[in-house]
Amino acid sequence: MDLQTEYFDDGSSFQAIDPLMLNPNHLSNISIFERFPKKNNTYRFRCLITDTGSMETEKLSRLLKSWEIIYVHKKHLGNYNAHIKDNLGYILRHETIDVKKKTAIFTRVSTEIIKGVFNIQLHKAGPDPDALKQVEKLISNAIEFITDTGSLNGLADLIGHDYDTHAHSIKVAWLVAAFINNNRDLFPKQSDADFQQFLIKAAVAGLLHDIGKTKIPKNILNKKGRLNNLEYITVQSHSAYSISLLFEGGFPTYALQAILYHHENEDGSGYPCGLKNDGIPLVAKITHIADVFEALTAKRPYKAPKSPFEALRIMSGSNPHAETLSHFEKEARENAKVPIETIVRNEPDIKRRRLREKEMMEEEAQKRVEARLILRDRGMAHCFDEDLIKRFIMTMNQSSSFNFSGLL
Ligand SMILES: [Fe+2]
Ligand SMILES: [Fe+2]
Repeated sequence: MDLQTEYFDDGSSFQAIDPLMLNPNHLSNISIFERFPKKNNTYRFRCLITDTGSMETEKLSRLLKSWEIIYVHKKHLGNYNAHIKDNLGYILRHETIDVKKKTAIFTRVSTEIIKGVFNIQLHKAGPDPDALKQVEKLISNAIEFITDTGSLNGLADLIGHDYDTHAHSIKVAWLVAAFINNNRDLFPKQSDADFQQFLIKAAVAGLLHDIGKTKIPKNILNKKGRLNNLEYITVQSHSAYSISLLFEGGFPTYALQAILYHHENEDGSGYPCGLKNDGIPLVAKITHIADVFEALTAKRPYKAPKSPFEALRIMSGSNPHAETLSHFEKEARENAKVPIETIVRNEPDIKRRRLREKEMMEEEAQKRVEARLILRDRGMAHCFDEDLIKRFIMTMNQSSSFNFSGLL
């Protein structure tokens, strides 16, 4: 073995782990240590098992259950992380591991995988096929967990944090999977065998719906303030980019549609195609609801997160300004590169004129975007299918972490 049987250390060379995370059936190349109380700022770490791979499974299983906490040397952390990734299904199906721990492991593993798939090299037409396979494997391993409404208690703890594309994607996939599994009657044509695959593919689509954001300039995506019209429209191109990046990934039509149309609104005011009502595919409508719910409840540099209750109140409320909003969207598209010269053409100094033009465009755009968001929060019912929103609220309400009875 490459490690000593005993160490005296300030603790920084070891990581504490929960023994339940280790699958005794597939455990090798990880030495397990116990820690003794601190003396003179030093802990004693003693090796409990030097080679987990050579021990009889039943004995190992018994031992793992008998320990509360164990330690892994940092030299073996790579092996430990690989073990967690390979045994995610085992961990998420484990009856005695609580939802919070499962959520932490699922988020950690999926963040790593999603970063891999979003890391598209410039000259490539799409993500690495191996990274895509890992995404499918991840969702297949996690599907029982994320479709169980009990797991929404874990998701509830992730709500309200800073917006992050990776975390957003995971939560959207989770919400889509939980919703579809609890509303199976919406898909009467799917046989049991087909349904499982359908569920996995729909969740994968949820995970990848914003992959096109990798093609949007970073300075626009990470802009601290509000976006101007041109930037706003540029961001809107992400759903088309998503589909073009995944076009050759072998996805079924409904998954590609969910990705392309996840910003279409029920009244036709969405993008990229302005589809409405029955013209929007069902999985796209579901992804849209999950997406907006996640986005509204996330914290941004320019806005506080809304509570889940407030988010769903807005999403299910009708908006007296729906028409104005629709007009603003249209206008944003038209004004994305409008020349303002006409307004300031009398300014004789060309440099000052250009600066003033730029200023005016920015000011105008800021005002419009500001107004769009304020008006939008007055109600978004026109964006969603009424029955699906009700079902979404009811599905979420099954988790003890939420109480939406006031909305039902
Ligand atoms: Fe999106
Ligand atoms: Fe999104």
